[in-house]
Amino acid sequence: MPIKTNKYRLADIVPMLDVSEATVRRMIEEQGIVPDRVPAGSTTRPVYSLEQILQLAKSKRHRGKVKFKRPLVIAVYVPKGGVGKSTLSNEFTAELTLQGYNVMAIDLDDQASLTVMNGFQPDEVADAGKPNQWLVKHTLLNALYPANGEKTTLPLSEIIVKPYGEHGPKLVPADITLGELGYRLAIQPNREQFLRNWISAHADSDLKDIDIILIDNAPSTSVVSRASIVAADLLLIPVRLDALTVKSLSFLANELTGLSESQLPIPQVVAVPNFFKANNSRSARVMSALQRSFGDDVPIAPHVGESERFPRSLMHDIGHELEEVLPVTFEGWTRALERQHEEIRNVCKFVMNIAEETFARGETPGLFDDAPESRRATN
Ligand SMILES: Nc1ncnc2c1ncn2[C@@H]1O[C@H](COP(=O)(O)OP(=O)(O)OP(=O)(O)O)[C@@H](O)[C@H]1O
Ligand SMILES: [Mg+2]
Repeated sequence: MPIKTNKYRLADIVPMLDVSEATVRRMIEEQGIVPDRVPAGSTTRPVYSLEQILQLAKSKRHRGKVKFKRPLVIAVYVPKGGVGKSTLSNEFTAELTLQGYNVMAIDLDDQASLTVMNGFQPDEVADAGKPNQWLVKHTLLNALYPANGEKTTLPLSEIIVKPYGEHGPKLVPADITLGELGYRLAIQPNREQFLRNWISAHADSDLKDIDIILIDNAPSTSVVSRASIVAADLLLIPVRLDALTVKSLSFLANELTGLSESQLPIPQVVAVPNFFKANNSRSARVMSALQRSFGDDVPIAPHVGESERFPRSLMHDIGHELEEVLPVTFEGWTRALERQHEEIRNVCKFVMNIAEETFARGETPGLFDDAPESRRATN
């Protein structure tokens, strides 16, 4: 499989799962996990696979966690290319999985960066002599609309892929055929609410075991990105601190105002500063543009620093091997990656705190509540 297979020591697993060593040992025993052994001097020491770590992470599920009544929907979007939407979607999916949530990532960009980051080859076609499990067969389009000549849509179970095995995050992959979703939605009544309604309608069936749906969007403004915004409880906007993103931020703020004026539910926005570099003279200007566009309503998450260690989405096009693809979050906690791990984790904790504050506290636990008025009242 094109995903790199690492071996992890017990000392790696402890910070990954964010629990004590004693707890990890207990979980390993409870789950009946048997490690491989590798030579270490005159003896051997145990090493674990990512799949085994993900099995442990899954056993953390719901332990002291908020149980949402339906999946929490997080959209990652800003109408600006190359700001880190797919990179952050990929890392947050991995980190939230390590925290014990059942995460389903949806690649809603027909350019399919997130799909590539997960080891898939959306541009390859089937070759009869060469079976390839990393081809993309279906996208979200097939869950929303029947294929030509068919009467029914595909169940999610036939669409999702599990790049890291049974216990890892699920991915609804994308390829260029997803481009048709825009045409379909354009002639759809209630098109802005279509994805939101679809998620509600499937909350007790296809999506029953999902805690968090994380949607990576294309940079363009379209009926698809609008449907994704309206479907979302939280909208994460990566803000690239080393580029001038002033216009795209105010454009997005206007878009949200427009949706809200049309009585459509709008998500709680959270800004995620990305490409942070100390002493960057542009950062202050970008942050004040953010404030000007969104006022004080938008919490600003801890930043993610600039780092060459994030997998590049189009790696296989630039001569790298797909074996290198693994989110930083799923790499061992070596000293070299400690900062990146901490930053991703801090953003995820910040975001989940906001989700809990916004939707889980108080008398109306918002998550099943579609009325924009009561949604706002819980904020
Ligand atoms: N914090 C970071 N430090 C360094 N490089 C980063 C960081 N975040 C993202 N990148 C890199 O920037 C490039 C663009 O990132 P990414 O594809 O995630 O952006 P995007 O917003 O999804 O782009 P698009 O609009 O094309 O979908 C990638 O090569 C990625 O590896
Ligand atoms: Mg992208």
